[in-house]
Amino acid sequence: MTNILCIGAGYVGGSTMPVIASYCPEHRFVIVDINEARIAAWQSDQLPIYEPGLDEIVRQTRGKNVFFSTDINRHIAEADIIFVSVNTPTKTFGQGAGRAADLQYWEKTARQILENSTSSKIVVEKSTLPVRTAEAMERILNSNNKGLHFDVLSNPEFLAEGTAVRDMQKPDRVLIGGRETESGQKAVEQLVEMYAHWVPRDRIITTNLWSSELSKLVANAFLAQRISSINSISALCEKTEADINEVADAIRYDERIGRYFLRASVGFGGSCFKKDILNLVYLCEHYGLPEVAKYWEQVVAMNEYQEARFAANMVTSMFNTVAGKRIALFGAAFKANTNDTRESPALEVCRALLAEQADIVITDPYAMENACSDLRELAERVTFEIDPYIASKNAHAIAILTEWPQYTQLDYEKIYDSMVKPAFIFDGRNLLDHKNLYQVGFNVYPIGKPPLTRLVNMS
Ligand code: UDX
Ligand code: UDX
Repeated sequence: MTNILCIGAGYVGGSTMPVIASYCPEHRFVIVDINEARIAAWQSDQLPIYEPGLDEIVRQTRGKNVFFSTDINRHIAEADIIFVSVNTPTKTFGQGAGRAADLQYWEKTARQILENSTSSKIVVEKSTLPVRTAEAMERILNSNNKGLHFDVLSNPEFLAEGTAVRDMQKPDRVLIGGRETESGQKAVEQLVEMYAHWVPRDRIITTNLWSSELSKLVANAFLAQRISSINSISALCEKTEADINEVADAIRYDERIGRYFLRASVGFGGSCFKKDILNLVYLCEHYGLPEVAKYWEQVVAMNEYQEARFAANMVTSMFNTVAGKRIALFGAAFKANTNDTRESPALEVCRALLAEQADIVITDPYAMENACSDLRELAERVTFEIDPYIASKNAHAIAILTEWPQYTQLDYEKIYDSMVKPAFIFDGRNLLDHKNLYQVGFNVYPIGKPPLTRLVNMS
């Protein structure tokens, strides 16, 4: 039996470890966190994150070979392998503020590991980190005079929220980076063994440490870049009567371009894309590559433009004012099937409309609690309503901001009847049947397609 510890019971730690444990019944997994309420939630029937299929896996493994705890020090001492998945937010202060990763939790965790260790261990970076962080970690960990040796590995997580369990069970690939020393390679092999319980060997890629760290940033930058690319074209489509869905379909059949991540939208959100690109930008600047930095920075700038453009289009279309108008935002989560609202474009649109003094109602099946806390003091000016029919009653407009499938099943005739006329729908996810909505009576504004509007004399 190997004692495996994961520090950080967030989205990443909390969803990966139970899945790994379900395939490795002979190993013992402990997941620790400094946040007591979070650990209590993991021990209860109401898990702190909503992730399809996770409840069942936690129920099957918890108490058998998966344990949640706040006793970090004791479990460090017992562990053979330690995964670290504490958060690495963008720095808000000092050098690199707004771009570089804030590594204070990572470093604190490394020191805590060192303090509490009485045996040599493998430490695995699961959090996304700037390239060469492992080097700093190795230095801290191996600066001990206890005669202990630590091998630091990089094993970035590629799961996407909403499909985390499936992504873990059937990963496109697992990436493990390690030192090219004898003990580094032995450590890599130990981790490979663990994943090989269910992942075919040819899908387990091993690289040097730096390639592994960098690959995670690059994967997210490439994915985000595709969305910014298609979103940039959506703006052009709206001017030219081309249809972004038709353009996306026309290009996706080219295997060199590929099928995925070509859905135009109000923008990308989530805890990773923006943070990781800014991190990449900072690295490039740090290494004296300003042109490369600028190139990637534009992916984030285009996303901010798309969010702002969407909100501005709402205001313009509604006769240049939304002040005092009730507007129902359908969706707060940054994507469907998660309760996560970090960097959600829905909340950006909400903030922009609040600045225009609109009367905002947010509805979302799972993410309202997080939306409320992310909006901070602005939340006082927002109504939260779980029922989309009540949310849209007496509203001038609906904005679809998360692609929840349940929004395709609503009775839009009933909704239209209860709204102020002329009634508007702004579909930030191109989710709904626009022709049908138009026939019901709505003025419909999709992304990257001409609007279907009954209004005349509009510029
Ligand atoms: C985090 C990082 O944000 C991401 O960059 C990385 O790729 C994976 O880890 P996530 O799991 O989504 O992603 O973050 P979050 O849900 O914030 O969870 C981090 C957890 O670490 C929190 O529960 C926090 O309480 C805990 N933590 C943080 C510790 O246990 N100790 C610390 O010192 C700091
Ligand atoms: C992403 C990566 O996909 C994952 O590999 C990495 O480990 C973490 O970051 P995640 O942020 O959970 O995962 O979700 P993802 O499905 O990538 O979506 C990110 C954002 O892009 C969402 O707001 C989504 O709505 C948006 N998106 C995605 C689009 O707007 N259009 C698309 O075509 C795809």
